[in-house]
Amino acid sequence: MRKPFIAGNWKMNTDSYTSVQLAKDVAHGLEDIAGHPVDVAVIPPFVYISAVVGALSTYQIAVGAQDVYFEHKGAFTGEISPAMLKDIGCAYVLCGHSERRHVIKETDELINKKVSASISGGLLPILCVGELIEERKANKTEEVVKRQVEKGLAGLSPEKFSAVTLAYEPVWAIGTGLTATPQQAQEVHSMIRQLIAKLYGNQLAQETRILYGGSVKPDNAAELMRQQDVDGLLVGGASLSAKDFIAIVRASV
Ligand code: 13P
Repeated sequence: MRKPFIAGNWKMNTDSYTSVQLAKDVAHGLEDIAGHPVDVAVIPPFVYISAVVGALSTYQIAVGAQDVYFEHKGAFTGEISPAMLKDIGCAYVLCGHSERRHVIKETDELINKKVSASISGGLLPILCVGELIEERKANKTEEVVKRQVEKGLAGLSPEKFSAVTLAYEPVWAIGTGLTATPQQAQEVHSMIRQLIAKLYGNQLAQETRILYGGSVKPDNAAELMRQQDVDGLLVGGASLSAKDFIAIVRASV
């Protein structure tokens, strides 16, 4: 079955000292469950990735990036390529996080290019999708999530798609303390899996991990993880506390 995957998205937080300290604290706190069937990743700001990769070099905790550009190299001032992230030891990359969609105004087309370029560059993209509160209230959740998944994956072969993790993060649950109920999460995760089955066949759909994100905390992690189609968690605020993040990982194994 699908191996649980817990990732901590640190967003625009930490500094050169606390990023390394947080990574080390998480690693030490999870030492006794190394070898358990769970994948763990931390996703620091770009500028601290190298230091965190160094701090985690002897641990089985992967490191990811919060964003990437789709070109390999060249005159793209301020951007970071998949090759650069791979070079410094990144394994994962978030594509289409809701804050990039809604604050930075990234489009589905741009996100699709980032997903595709990441895979070509040897990274494992985590494609994030999720509806706004107005869209949920207007019963548009399925329509919005379906569009984001289809457009985000457009043109990807099954081989390329097998590198993708999906993350459902309802925008109204991010940073608000309002978690989707386990039933609400399960409903959308199951819809996403059916959509993947239509696009790529049942076997790949069964193998694909779909993470839930949005106000995940130590006290709601276990119940979310009990849902059939919730294969992991993308944790924001609570991943900035080593104690809370460790508790979330432990609740998921
Ligand atoms: P919070 O856990 O702070 O709600 O953030 C979720 C998120 O956006 C993770 O990517």
